Amino acid sequence: MAQEREQFKGRRAFIFAAVGSAIGLGNIWRFPYVAYENGGGAFIIPYLVALLTAGIPLLFLDYAIGHKFRASSPLAYRRLGGATEAIGWWHVGICFVIAVYYAVVIAWAVRYTGFSINQAWGDDPGGFFGGDFLQQSGEFTLGGSWVPAVGIPLIIIWLFALVVHRLGVQDGIARLSQIFIPVLVVIFVVMVIQGLRQPGAMLGLDALFTPEWGALTNPGVWIAAYGQIFFSLSVGFGIMITYSSYLKRRSNLTGSGLVVAFSNSGFEILAGIGVFAALGFMAQASGVGVADVAESGIGLAFIAFPAIISTMPGGSLFGVLFFLSLVLAGITSLVSIVQVVLAGVEDKLGWSRTKSVLIAGGLMAVVSVALFPTTTGLNLLDVVDNFANNFGIVGAALVSVIVIGWGLRKLPELAAHVNSVSSFKLGRTWFVLLGVVTPLVLGYMFISEVVTRIRDGYGEMPAGYVGVFGWGVAIGLIVIAVGVSLIPWRRGVVEDEPVLVEGGEPR
Ligand code: ALA
Repeated sequence: MAQEREQFKGRRAFIFAAVGSAIGLGNIWRFPYVAYENGGGAFIIPYLVALLTAGIPLLFLDYAIGHKFRASSPLAYRRLGGATEAIGWWHVGICFVIAVYYAVVIAWAVRYTGFSINQAWGDDPGGFFGGDFLQQSGEFTLGGSWVPAVGIPLIIIWLFALVVHRLGVQDGIARLSQIFIPVLVVIFVVMVIQGLRQPGAMLGLDALFTPEWGALTNPGVWIAAYGQIFFSLSVGFGIMITYSSYLKRRSNLTGSGLVVAFSNSGFEILAGIGVFAALGFMAQASGVGVADVAESGIGLAFIAFPAIISTMPGGSLFGVLFFLSLVLAGITSLVSIVQVVLAGVEDKLGWSRTKSVLIAGGLMAVVSVALFPTTTGLNLLDVVDNFANNFGIVGAALVSVIVIGWGLRKLPELAAHVNSVSSFKLGRTWFVLLGVVTPLVLGYMFISEVVTRIRDGYGEMPAGYVGVFGWGVAIGLIVIAVGVSLIPWRRGVVEDEPVLVEGGEPR
């Protein structure tokens, strides 16, 4: 008996869900500081090259796999070519790990939306964030005391996300994005306008957009651009495979992909403008350079921004809009990351949605709530984030393009599938980009990252700690993926593609 598979109601629902996944924490706080640290205005060139040569081609590859084989990442890869199933489980593992800490950053943003109203950080946002709020001991261990100020909003976020999942792909995920994304765009635009109206805003934009051409010869800048595109567009770790498996048969894949990719990058550049306008204001107000107020990483949103909010006239409103944007953008991305895990276990174990939400979703929530809102959680989040992205996402994308392009030689078959339903056709350029350019760039990125981490370690962290929670997690995910892929499938599942409902929404 062929199985039935949930579907998005139409192209619009899918595009909203995919844009909701793409626009996330990566766009709002990651892009501005990555761009700034990597040559400012000159970064836009590697960024656009990365978008066109790897981001969009990989997005189409993900769509082709998910839509042709209509399954979660592990089952889709299994149908694509036997042993490649392990790549799908690697995706599931990466998403499990990312989800458990990604939700924590959203929980911080929820609290900071409230803190913005009375500027609870006082005159020491740095001390407040690590000390009063997160209560970090600075130790490199697991555990420590549980911090309810983070833990309680985190529990609420997980409950909310799991209810959305229980409602299903259309009534939960697509509907959530159809509500959250327009609200996000409106409040974000209001925030950017408020930022641009501040004195000094142009100083910030100059810092962001004035090209430092020398940066273009630095390979690290190119690596950063490709890394940013993958994380931001949600490609290469199973999300777009999973989402496109819920599309109707007659769906314009490439047309939708272009809308998603350009919406994501447009929002990202808007975020860069908003964030740097605010940094320019702060630099002028404190009589220092923009470089002195631009913190990198987590510090940009949770330390530099609070300082700006306290200084800016109408800063509380600006703060509420900024942190609320992080919450809205973050939640629509979180549900997409979690969906990769749920879809994988549903296919493999034949579980219902309720069962996968309760058991697999519940497990993610428990791990997240137990490990991260603790007095040692910040170091853990930092190391896991770095290794899950740089080794997980980049590694899995590298292995999959090599296996599909060179091992199985499946690119022509996948292109034919995409072309049979899409307006914009894939041809030789796509083969060259995915078969040659992407493997070379990803291979270089991966090897140089391995060499750097072995040589330099990770920040100030003790080697043993990085060994267990960085390398251990990254390698453990691969071992687990291979192990799970060896478990046999229930009879008929691999061969039995689900019932396809023809004649979906007009293209
Ligand atoms: N694409 C998501 C983000 O940018 C994961 O945060």
